[in-house]
Order: sequence, then C-alpha cells, then structure tokens
Amino acid sequence: MTAVTVSAPAKVNLRLAVGPPRPDGYHDLVNVFHAVSLFDEVTVTAAGRTTIRIDGPGADAVPTDGRNLAAMAAERLARRLGVPGGAAIRIRKRIPVAGGMAGGSADAAAALLACAELWGAGLSRAELMPIAAELGSDVPFSLLGGTAVGAGRGELLTPAQVNGGYHWVFALAHGGLSTPAVYAECDRLREEAGHRPGPPAHDDKLMAALREGDAAAVGTRLANDLQDAALSLRPELAGVLAAGRERAALGALVSGSGPTCAFLAESPEHADDIAAGLRASAACRGTVTARGPVPGAAVVPGPG
Ligand code: C5P
Repeated sequence: MTAVTVSAPAKVNLRLAVGPPRPDGYHDLVNVFHAVSLFDEVTVTAAGRTTIRIDGPGADAVPTDGRNLAAMAAERLARRLGVPGGAAIRIRKRIPVAGGMAGGSADAAAALLACAELWGAGLSRAELMPIAAELGSDVPFSLLGGTAVGAGRGELLTPAQVNGGYHWVFALAHGGLSTPAVYAECDRLREEAGHRPGPPAHDDKLMAALREGDAAAVGTRLANDLQDAALSLRPELAGVLAAGRERAALGALVSGSGPTCAFLAESPEHADDIAAGLRASAACRGTVTARGPVPGAAVVPGPG
C-alpha cells in the first residue's frame, strides 16, 4: 500500500461538566461528545522520516514539526511497531483550528488509523484506543465517533444510545482559544466566586432526550461548564450566542473550549436560517452547517 487517506469528524460537546483540577493538572469530566459532519482528511505515505504538510483555512496556525498531534501519532505508532522511518502526512483542514471542535484530535486519530493501515499493523480500533488516549483526551472519541459519554479526562468512553439526526450551525470565530488557558480561566472564575465544584455529574434528562430523538429537549439540556471561561476571555461571544437565539435555535452554546459557537436547529432549513442570521449580525467570521451523529475516523476508499 503506497498511500492511505482517512477522514475524521469534528465534535461538539452536548454536555461538558468539569470537576475540580486534579493533581496531574487535568480535570475529571462528564463529556457528552457528538461527532458532526465536518471532516479533516489526512493522507499518509511511507517516508524516511515524518513530515507534515497542511492545507486549508487556518493551516498557518498549526505547527508542522514534532508538536503536531498527527506527527506524534505517526511517530508513536512507528516506535510501537518497530517501523523504520516515518510517514509523509498531508492534512486537508476543514475543522476550525483551535476552535473547540477537536480538529487537532481528529487529525491525530486520522493519522493513527492511516499509519496503522499503511504499515499493515493489524491493530483493531480497540487496540488503537490506548495510543489515542496518550496523544490527547479527545483523540479516542475522534476514532470512535457517534455520540458517547467521556469520563476521566474524557478518554474513558461509553457509546450513547441516540435516535434521529441533529442539525447544527457553527459560528466560526476570528482566531482560536488555547484549551489549557480556558480550563485555567474556569478554575480562576470558580475560585473568585468561592465555588468549590463537586465531581462532574451526568444529566439523565439529556440522555433520555437523545434516546427519544427529541431535538427540542436536547436543545434545552445543552450545557458547557467552560462557557463562562470562554466568554470571560472572548466577551464578544455573548453577541454570537444571542444572534443564534434570536433565530429560535433549540439550544446555543460555546463548543468545548471555544471560540466556535454551536446552535441546534429543528431542520436543515432552520439551520440555514440561523446561519443567515449569524452572518447578517456580523458577529462571526462565517458559518458552517453540519449534521450529527456521524461515525469516527474512517479510511477513504480509493487510491489515497
Ligand atoms: O488532553 P489534551 O492534551 O487535549 O489536553 C489539553 C489541555 O487541556 C491539558 O493540558 C489541560 O490543561 C486541559 N484539560 C484539562 N482536563 C481535561 C482535558 C484537558 O484540564 N479533562
């Protein structure tokens, strides 16, 4: 095999409940991940050493050296398999960079799966999961896809039962937000308010609404403990959320650590209407519509 292409989806968090900081610097989460139809594509070919090339919006802001998560994925797997050399990795980016939609994690999951295929590793998706978890808290979900509840730092996944499809609008922001900075701001705001959070809690009503395919009920249960922190660092996001709510979005929230904002719609037409309202308000850089849930990272058939 000379080249393998894998696509991997973006995610939105339907619920992101954040506990207190742990001694290792992470936070325990109840993280309801939902994969949406916005994909990065990663192509790998055998090479003497690992290299990265990135095309697409925001590509300039992504490191192309050993700090790139996709490069780390290839290197880690090569070491594990005893493969000499590395992989030439080409990433076509569509997921907003540093946008709170797990774009970097999607690229890492895609590179891991693509390299496993390229090198004939014979590893199942389940066997790739621990390597994915070492790369980042959201990488296992990018492999799994669908809708799933992440515990621990987000890497301990339980697939959720979901009926129906969900229509989303994403408001793209100028620039990104650093995930560690948003978690740190969340801790700071809680400390300032004298709020000592308990362990992160599940939301049975959200899970029931997903099982019943009740989009309106899902919309009312969307929740993100990082939202106040993202708004504190980027106050203009309040106007973005308001613009989507004006078009009667079923729910509106900051996606993950932001700054992308996500809006749940009743139908594809409603999603287009919300997107038009967001663009007219000039509150954001642009919009993308997508549906969920969709499967996780998958090999794209054809000649790479
Ligand atoms: O796991 P990942 O490398 O994606 O995490 C990036 C950063 O986000 C961590 O270094 C940490 O600051 C923060 N984080 C956290 N708790 C989590 C996941 C991420 O504090 N459960």
